[in-house]
Amino acid sequence: MSQSFARTLVTAALPYANGPLHLGHLAGAYLPADVFCRYERMCGRDVVFICGSDEHGVPIMLRARAEDVPPQVIVDRYHAELKSGFERFGMSFDYYGRTSSATHRETSQAFFEKLAESDTFVRKTESQLFDPEAGMFLADRFVRGTCPSAECGNPQAYGDQCERCGRSLSPSELIDPRSAITDAVPELRETTHWYLPLGKMQPKLAAWFDGHPEWKTNVRGQVSSWLKEGLADRAVTRDLGWGVPVPRKVAQTAGVDAEGKVLYVWFDAPIGYISATREWAEGQGDKERWKAYWQADDTRLIHFIGKDNIVFHCLVFPAMLMAHGQYVLPDNVPANEFLNLEGGKLSTSRGWAVWVLDFLDRYPADYLRYALLRILPETKDSDFAWREMQAHINNELADTLGNFANRSVTFAVRYFDGKVPPLLDPDPPDQRMLASLADYPTKVGQLIESYRFRDALDAAMGLARAANKYFNDAAPWATRKTDMSRCGNTIHVSLQVCATLGVLFEPFLPASAARLRAQLALTGVRASVPGADPGSGIGFHDAGRPLLAPGAELGEPEILFSKIEDAAVAAELDRLQAASRAAQQDEAPEAPNSPEADDGDYAPAKSVIAFDDFEKLDLRVGRVLVAERVKKSKKLIRCEVDLGYERRQILAGVAEHMTADELSGRQVVVVANLAPRKMAGLESQGMLLMAEDRQGRLVPVEAGSEPGATVS
Ligand code: MF3
Ligand code: ZN
Repeated sequence: MSQSFARTLVTAALPYANGPLHLGHLAGAYLPADVFCRYERMCGRDVVFICGSDEHGVPIMLRARAEDVPPQVIVDRYHAELKSGFERFGMSFDYYGRTSSATHRETSQAFFEKLAESDTFVRKTESQLFDPEAGMFLADRFVRGTCPSAECGNPQAYGDQCERCGRSLSPSELIDPRSAITDAVPELRETTHWYLPLGKMQPKLAAWFDGHPEWKTNVRGQVSSWLKEGLADRAVTRDLGWGVPVPRKVAQTAGVDAEGKVLYVWFDAPIGYISATREWAEGQGDKERWKAYWQADDTRLIHFIGKDNIVFHCLVFPAMLMAHGQYVLPDNVPANEFLNLEGGKLSTSRGWAVWVLDFLDRYPADYLRYALLRILPETKDSDFAWREMQAHINNELADTLGNFANRSVTFAVRYFDGKVPPLLDPDPPDQRMLASLADYPTKVGQLIESYRFRDALDAAMGLARAANKYFNDAAPWATRKTDMSRCGNTIHVSLQVCATLGVLFEPFLPASAARLRAQLALTGVRASVPGADPGSGIGFHDAGRPLLAPGAELGEPEILFSKIEDAAVAAELDRLQAASRAAQQDEAPEAPNSPEADDGDYAPAKSVIAFDDFEKLDLRVGRVLVAERVKKSKKLIRCEVDLGYERRQILAGVAEHMTADELSGRQVVVVANLAPRKMAGLESQGMLLMAEDRQGRLVPVEAGSEPGATVS
């Protein structure tokens, strides 16, 4: 299927306005989206890049409550902080909006109204727990109580699940429920909500999704498994005091009291992309211009997101757009997996994070761009470690790219009067090096267009590596004394390579690419930021031909990248440890009782345990030899696991998350000294460790070494 597009609308997930930016944000959605948009602009294509702050949702309310200020104060603070963080990082948004704006309120209300009028929604009236002290209904995680399972009796079970026995619950099943916000005893009250009937819409969604076999494997995998499980209807309204109010007109027609009802944050937030595009169009002096980007068939819509947003962007929002009828659907949703930090999961509340603004206080933005691009979690989770980052900057940016540029320009300044020497009767290596330039824009561009940013960066670095080798082999420091014309050829070719690098690196490292071009006095390269005239200048694909004229005057040589010292890395690691200790001291007394407000849907952190408690666990690497569904059970998979020294039968309650085939053959982490338990009439002799994401999906914790190895 080949399609052609007249324009591209790129969105990057709207970050919640309740915390500052950290590296995980950038690696997930923002940096790849920025590289993509800068590249598109340099290709002369019409692209609009939209983002903004997501200013609704329960965690923002809870934070406001904790600080005893109105939510608007919280979102004003973080909106400003996010915006400046993005600016300092060098994001090239065409527009950065926010969901507390008047345009957004109108746009999302009109969208909701349109769906209500076309009978898209169903309404359901149900009893829900209400916290009389907080004056609000308590969704899922905001209720705790005793697990109704007689064998379990966990007093700290959540409204949606008991984490001790794994039973999934509804809030009204809990024994002695308590509000997690005020600890008040909640009351049952009837309430009516609007639901998006995804179950009914599934065939249409599935057919559309089947038309996109080109999407990334990680994205396709998640979407397929949601579809396989069967989509459930989703409530798109909430009883909350903060959000976009349910339009009165819709409530009246339905005979429902609209008081205290708002749109669910995941209903209004993606509409934020539309509202922000409208505000952008107004700023362009053409109010109607947003429509082309959202409603014309020849628009290509691309959502950059992190993996926790996949279901919303690949199923829920498309369902909304389909139901509305006037909008284009996403052409691609290149989601990244998660970024870990120094081997641990990022957690803002546990102080395990690197903040973008802190980073930028100490290092240039391009260091961060390079370090993250190098390890983007494109196909699986990846890890940011300071030592590794130091090695990437020092060995690659400084020693390869920076060094090549510097030696080329310095040589020309010293021995060729600061001018580009002529190319006279070049040798085969000179010719080959020059000819090879032609391949790079295509190679790098194709990788960017297929959302393989790591590989794209590596391809561009490949030119710097090849060029260093060429320079070494040509040894201009020797030919300078024996054959000045050969030496001139080497420098001529090297400077042409520098010019190509100065264009190729623009989408990845815009500030450094500009500095490199300044040393070459290379002007007229098309801008990668909004406002570039698509028809003018040297575009990305012009970078394959020699860009410098013989005899042209060069600029001043300067060091592009200075190295990061060992002491700086040690200081960063100390800072991280200190922040994590401080966060644990702050959090510990509160932890049992407070849902983790700043991480959205993450499970709350558990309280700290002594090292001795940890040591009691016998954790081992095991290989799943056999895996099969347990017939009469919805949840259980029976596994035979090779622990090296013996073979065990282990029952895993994961059948709703993966097939037996997916589990079989995996190398997993096993709790080997858990007392045997009977489940569905079978004995389970241990437990497989699973990681649970924010949607409650489980994936096995995989391990590298051989079965029987201890994990500690
Ligand atoms: N605020 C959400 C998050 O950080 C993302 C919202 S994306 C949008 O996970 F589509 F809703 F805008
Ligand atoms: Zn339980």
